[in-house]
Amino acid sequence: PRCFALVPAAGIGERSGAGMPKQYVEIAGKPMLAHTLTALAAVPRVEQTLVVLSPADDRFEAALPGHTGWVARVGGASRAESVLGGLAELRRRGATDDDWVLVHDAARCLLRPEWVDALIDACEHDAVGGLLAQPIADTLKAGDADGRVTATVDRRDKWAAQTPQMFRLGLVEKALAAMGAAATDEASAVEALGLAPRLVRASMANFKVTWPEDFELAERWLYQVGP
Ligand code: C5P
Repeated sequence: PRCFALVPAAGIGERSGAGMPKQYVEIAGKPMLAHTLTALAAVPRVEQTLVVLSPADDRFEAALPGHTGWVARVGGASRAESVLGGLAELRRRGATDDDWVLVHDAARCLLRPEWVDALIDACEHDAVGGLLAQPIADTLKAGDADGRVTATVDRRDKWAAQTPQMFRLGLVEKALAAMGAAATDEASAVEALGLAPRLVRASMANFKVTWPEDFELAERWLYQVGP
């Protein structure tokens, strides 16, 4: 089986306060999406990366001039729909049920090739697949609408789910189609089928740029370690 990457980049990023889809915000002189694609392109076992854009996207060509990889304007109203559109496009381009698909958020632009390699090493002989994740260091609180604590949640067995998430095309397509828009990641859809994805520890630095203050944090990191 081959490995493909699929990058959903069809969100509007309204939590970021950037006034444009956050994948196009420049970090260390390049759009976030460009950093993400550079990291995936540096993993030889990933044959091709498909970027999923919104049909209404009018920024990609200007933001990533000369991009030669696969692009499909098949994004939907939810992340899950965007990924399903991308999976169908991978099939049109020759991918089959047994091929692995690594779904990776455009907004996790600090991705390092070595973390992707670790994920592939851990999952390529696994019956289910898995995801990059990070054990939770903070004490976890549940809160109500007034910003008051309602409970302290046991953190000992908790992990923050990241991406890439690596599953076989046939499995992840079936799982997402069954769960619909409620799935905020691929693993939760696979779990709903009764399967247990493998957790592969990566780094806190693989965070999803989401809030306004995240852009500066991402920039500092990139200036330190390089693209
Ligand atoms: O909104 P959130 O941060 O969870 O989005 C995660 C990723 O999914 C982002 O890369 C975003 O562009 C993508 N997305 C998408 N289609 C949507 C919503 C989000 O491709 N309808």
